[in-house]
Amino acid sequence: MWRPPERIKWSAEPGRWPTREEAAASRLFRPVDIGPLSLESRSWVPAMVPWRATGDGIVTPEVLGWYERFARGRPGAIVVEATGIRDIPSGPLLRIGDDRFIPGLKTLVETVARASGGHTRLLIQIIDFLAIRRRPRRERFLGEFLRITDDHRARLDAAGWTEQRIRARLAELDDAALAEILSPREMEALRMGYRERVTDVGLPHIRDLPEVLPGLFADAARRAREAGFDGVELHYAHAYTMSQFLSRLNDRDDLYGGSLENRARLPLEVFRRVRETVGEDYAVGCRYLAEDCVDGGNPVEDSARFGVAFAEAGFDFLSLSRGGRFEDAKQPAVGSAAYPYTGPSGYECMPQYVSDARGPFGRNVEPAAAIRAAIRAAGHATPVVVTGGIHGFEQAEGLLRDGKADIVGFARQSLADPDWFIKVRLGRGDEVVVCEYTNYCEALDQKHVPVTCKLWDRKRRDEPGIAKTPDGKRRLTAPLWEPGLDLERALADSGDVRLS
Ligand SMILES: Cc1cc2nc3c(=O)[nH]c(=O)nc-3n(C[C@H](O)[C@H](O)[C@H](O)COP(=O)(O)O)c2cc1C
Ligand code: SF4
Repeated sequence: MWRPPERIKWSAEPGRWPTREEAAASRLFRPVDIGPLSLESRSWVPAMVPWRATGDGIVTPEVLGWYERFARGRPGAIVVEATGIRDIPSGPLLRIGDDRFIPGLKTLVETVARASGGHTRLLIQIIDFLAIRRRPRRERFLGEFLRITDDHRARLDAAGWTEQRIRARLAELDDAALAEILSPREMEALRMGYRERVTDVGLPHIRDLPEVLPGLFADAARRAREAGFDGVELHYAHAYTMSQFLSRLNDRDDLYGGSLENRARLPLEVFRRVRETVGEDYAVGCRYLAEDCVDGGNPVEDSARFGVAFAEAGFDFLSLSRGGRFEDAKQPAVGSAAYPYTGPSGYECMPQYVSDARGPFGRNVEPAAAIRAAIRAAGHATPVVVTGGIHGFEQAEGLLRDGKADIVGFARQSLADPDWFIKVRLGRGDEVVVCEYTNYCEALDQKHVPVTCKLWDRKRRDEPGIAKTPDGKRRLTAPLWEPGLDLERALADSGDVRLS
């Protein structure tokens, strides 16, 4: 992963933990409504893909174990990982593109309800993404994949040459000379692997995305409701299709690119179709970027205008992330695909402890606050979720108190310690295992192997019955917290009220 050149090392400092009484009186542990859905607290576990589904995208016991472990900590809400809306092979990514996925997802809903004692609300993030191929070997690309065009012939002055001769000539050129003959997109396909974009309107399936996507998202949302999820989060963030539509880099020349209104058109059309399908009494929100964090991408001003438009349209919540784009991704090794979290924008998305003078904690807070302020100024009360480097109670409570966000997302901190919420609620914050922001977990994510945390995956591995990685080296979920008291009673004594 890219890191800021300053290389300043930071350590997570959670600050003072509240007493049980202070926690009970805090904003963080106060309920909040997201549209028709009530959360018991303003704490949120954002989507994190753990790579535990089957190769066909079906829920496995390991998927259940992952979410069960988060649910035991009783955050206000958990958002299930990015789940594919198309019925196409997507590796071990969870899928919701057909009714056959519903039974597995139903089990997931039941598991979380049981493990959280009915205290945690469960949403699912639904995603569309475009094709991306692995970086090819140079010989294979020039000898086979590259489509030889008249432009190539003209630039090589190769009229009348056979295709084979042209390919042989191209293979002799170094990269600088090749760049004179190939288009920038072809050079990119050689350097990074071929990747589709929403701006490839010459491809019929890309041109027609605005016709196809509302139905695909709406069907997926209907399945989410049938499976029992409390709501859906439309994935409009990072490097994927919907975020590409929103971005200033989207220069499609139809009604879906160029101006800010045009870029918002499809995200709004998708939302409307989802809303029509699931009804007003179902929570529908989205995750999108407070800032694209790449050259020419969306600044916070655009995201604030999108926030107002989304609030106006009736989204029940807006969860803000940042960066995580393909445009500045690192060149992958031959045989691997580009990964959108490897460049500077990837750093903004999941900042790690080696940072710059701003540090890795709360980089998204001020942009989120600006977006929330614009939404409030336009007269909307839509709750805003902010995430990024948040691990301490004072930090979370402070940003709620200062009106910078309405709900606080803890992604890696919940992975490091899924019991953060319950420990803090019980006045036992000093037992929290604080995330070190090493991005060991993110490196596993990048390899598409089961995600675990370095702070616990080698601990108590001889416990009977625990799930481990196939090589037996890592446990798949954090060891259970042994608080030495009756949790249900302790929470009841702390004044917890269960929302029906
Ligand atoms: C292993 C891993 C998987 C992730 N998968 C997703 C995902 O599926 N969807 C998403 O919107 N964000 C995803 N993220 C980003 C997180 O939701 C979050 O925005 C990011 O980690 C920054 O928050 P944090 O500092 O609290 O970890 C993932 C992060 C990690 C570490
Ligand atoms: S591996 Fe654990 S400690 Fe390191 S960043 Fe991920 S969650 Fe935090």
